[in-house]
Amino acid sequence: MKITYLGHAGLHIEINGKFIVVDPFISGNPLASVVDLQSLNADYLLLTHAHGDHIADVEPIAERTAATIICNAEMSYYYDAKGFKTIGMNTGGRFNFDGISVKSTIAFHSSSFPDGTYGGNPNGYVLEDGSKRIYIAGDTALTTEMKLIPETIGKPDLAILPVGDHFTMGYQDAYIASNFIQCNRVMGYHFDTFPPIKINHQQAKDHFSAGGKVLILPAIGETLEV
Ligand code: NI
Ligand code: MN
Repeated sequence: MKITYLGHAGLHIEINGKFIVVDPFISGNPLASVVDLQSLNADYLLLTHAHGDHIADVEPIAERTAATIICNAEMSYYYDAKGFKTIGMNTGGRFNFDGISVKSTIAFHSSSFPDGTYGGNPNGYVLEDGSKRIYIAGDTALTTEMKLIPETIGKPDLAILPVGDHFTMGYQDAYIASNFIQCNRVMGYHFDTFPPIKINHQQAKDHFSAGGKVLILPAIGETLEV
């Protein structure tokens, strides 16, 4: 599995020969100018919630690639009405496709579209390809429900956790989350995009390494392999 950071909470994932774009917010993010929106491959779009900083580029990508949008039920109704292909899920459910498994997990946050339409409950996702497992937390607070992930799904090889604070948990809570998830390799996201979520990278990394863990704060465009 290859995961490329698209900036903010955006990810481009190559898994089992398929391409999944998660929460694209590229055209509105000056920091993500290195990402070429027009050449981004997508078979699927995977969305955690309906806030603008997670869906801004969903429609142009779906129009260009005919990708199927995987999201919660309410978001699927919204995109269905606009003529897009969707798979609507809900919290706790699993969907298997193309040798890939996605399970929708609990996230504590909010979810409404920029136009005010109700966006259902926010979610995270666990993605598996049969050999590797990653957890994408989505925008969320630290929650004890994260303890259920290793118990009900399995320990992730990589946890992608928000670390920017203010709108989500910060890196200190993300460290506790990594204990709950039983994962020592963490990729931080949802940081630095806006002034309230700018973080001190060295402090955040030191906080994890003091506990014997690795926090990766990828550059935009950087690819990690699991
Ligand atoms: Ni949000
Ligand atoms: Mn957000």
